[in-house]
Amino acid sequence: MSRNVSVHGQWSSKAIFILAALGSTLGLGNIWKFPYLAGENGGGAFVLVYLLSVALIGIPIMMAEVALGRRARQSPVNTFDTLAWEQGASHQWRMVGGIGVLSGLLIVSFYSVVAGWTLAYLVRAVAGTFAGLGSGESERLFLDLVTDPERLLAWHTVFLVLVVMVLSRGVRSGIEKLVRYLMPVLFLILVLLVIYAWQTGKMGEGFNYLFAPDFQKLTPTSVLVAMGHAFFTLSLGMGVMLIYGSYLPSGVSIARGVCFIAVMDTVAALLAGLAVIPLVLANGLPLAAGPGLVFDTLPVAFGAMPGGYWFGILFFLLLFFAALTSAISLMEPSIAWLVESMDLPRLRAAIWVGILAWSLGIVTILSFSSWSFDFHFAGQLKTNGWYDGLDILTSGFLLPLGGLATALFTGWVVSRERLREQLGGEESLGFRLWYLLIRYVSPMAVVLIFLNVVGVL
Ligand code: PHE
Repeated sequence: MSRNVSVHGQWSSKAIFILAALGSTLGLGNIWKFPYLAGENGGGAFVLVYLLSVALIGIPIMMAEVALGRRARQSPVNTFDTLAWEQGASHQWRMVGGIGVLSGLLIVSFYSVVAGWTLAYLVRAVAGTFAGLGSGESERLFLDLVTDPERLLAWHTVFLVLVVMVLSRGVRSGIEKLVRYLMPVLFLILVLLVIYAWQTGKMGEGFNYLFAPDFQKLTPTSVLVAMGHAFFTLSLGMGVMLIYGSYLPSGVSIARGVCFIAVMDTVAALLAGLAVIPLVLANGLPLAAGPGLVFDTLPVAFGAMPGGYWFGILFFLLLFFAALTSAISLMEPSIAWLVESMDLPRLRAAIWVGILAWSLGIVTILSFSSWSFDFHFAGQLKTNGWYDGLDILTSGFLLPLGGLATALFTGWVVSRERLREQLGGEESLGFRLWYLLIRYVSPMAVVLIFLNVVGVL
């Protein structure tokens, strides 16, 4: 049942696959979420757990997803279905793909709202709003935006329309064209920003903040958050890598590409941390906990620094580009599934998924104003009700669960020969190591971290 090409199309080369996958992995998770998560959860100690999760759980699962996708060349739901059928296993495995499609929709619904903030801030940067901005004023600007549902809805809509426009053009003329030009620009901006922070910021202190471990802050929950973040930032556990793998030409090696993607994504997160944190510290600003960090604090830094006008624009442009290529990947699995299973033309499928994500996004929009409520999650106060809830539900539970199920399916249901066929064809040392990881180490690590949180251990 192994086909050569997916009905949805194929990347024109391995390099394009890598760019598209990097486009997906490198997103708000790296630039916006990682610095504040590290701050909330013990700096270097958090980074250590995150790096271990990338190596022992993330990379093996990413290889598995790409291999499964390329073998079946269908959407996640139908890939699990087909491969289970090939092995004579239960059709219920298609639920794993189903949960993935659901997680993608939930994530894109709040992702797009935050991506809308990046657009609003891009406009503010261009308009010169940050010049001489005080911290109090900046906080008010941020609050003005997030507590104004109409404005948030407008930006959320603009962002999703852009995403749907790209997606409706298909794999080759939509996603591929975009990432081919955008990704190199994105990396360039990131490097420029780090140089800027290095010149003007407190790099040494930034380093300390990111890498000095505070093991006291590393509770079982922060271990879960670190692992969840590894899934989130590597776009794992919901079929994105699977669908991108299904567009990968046969004969191209998977292992090296995947390691490259994981390393680059991690480097990008660390670089983003090293761009953001020193700038904040250099201006004597507090490293605000939570989502406000780059939107609330950073503009004050840009407003006070030489060249801050241009670098402010570059920064929010970077955030916007990063969010765009990730949001696209979040919607691709559901679109592919609608096209396959409901026989919808791609344009219609893209519009439907867009409408669904748009409607769900309203919950997030209101959770910053009229629907906001507080709750405690393992000792941390969460103030943005539904938004925080969705974030914890997806990163903390659905993605790791999806990843666990994918690892179990790959390691215990799909035959070793089929996997070897996708991963180089030989019983090499690398293959054996991967097989060991995907069969035992990755699933056990995820289960242990879950048990640890529940307090069983
Ligand atoms: N990896 C993206 C980021 O870091 C988010 C994402 C999650 C994209 C899951 C696709 C799937 O922002």
